[in-house]
Amino acid sequence: MHLIRLVYASKVEYDLEEADINAILNASKQNNLEKNITGALCYSNRFFLQCLEGSRLDVNALYHHILADGRHSQSAILQYSEIDQREFDDWSMGYIPPALVSGQLISKFSGKADFDPYSMSGESCYLLLKALASLGITES
Ligand SMILES: Cc1cc2nc3c(=O)[nH]c(=O)nc-3n(C[C@H](O)[C@H](O)[C@H](O)COP(=O)(O)O)c2cc1C
Repeated sequence: MHLIRLVYASKVEYDLEEADINAILNASKQNNLEKNITGALCYSNRFFLQCLEGSRLDVNALYHHILADGRHSQSAILQYSEIDQREFDDWSMGYIPPALVSGQLISKFSGKADFDPYSMSGESCYLLLKALASLGITES
């Protein structure tokens, strides 16, 4: 089995409700556990940044499924790598809420004050997710 990590970002064009996030996390918990997919999802400044880890075929299938979700658009893959081990293996989908996405961390990893993953390298996005996850993450 090829273990891979896929990091992508997408945009939200409307005011996302807490119920939307909860619905995404509930679906993630159920589906990702079944497929042995782990990862982290960050939402801030109307951007999603998500890391998916698991078997190549399962992660690809899930990404294409998520792409069709009307709650976001303009998705772009920022990083796709074969990996030896998972970074987020404790979480079927760990959630990092906007309150944790501080200006200090954003400027450390992006050099800018506002969170905009499209302007960041894939590696910086991955490292930012790791740093955010170490601050506190909500199990989905
Ligand atoms: C940004 C974002 C991330 C998502 N992440 C996942 C995920 O990791 N796993 C998952 O099963 N669904 C995820 N979803 C939800 C799926 O798009 C979909 O709504 C859910 O899997 C239920 O699909 P179904 O209605 O075909 O059963 C995500 C949706 C969005 C907008």
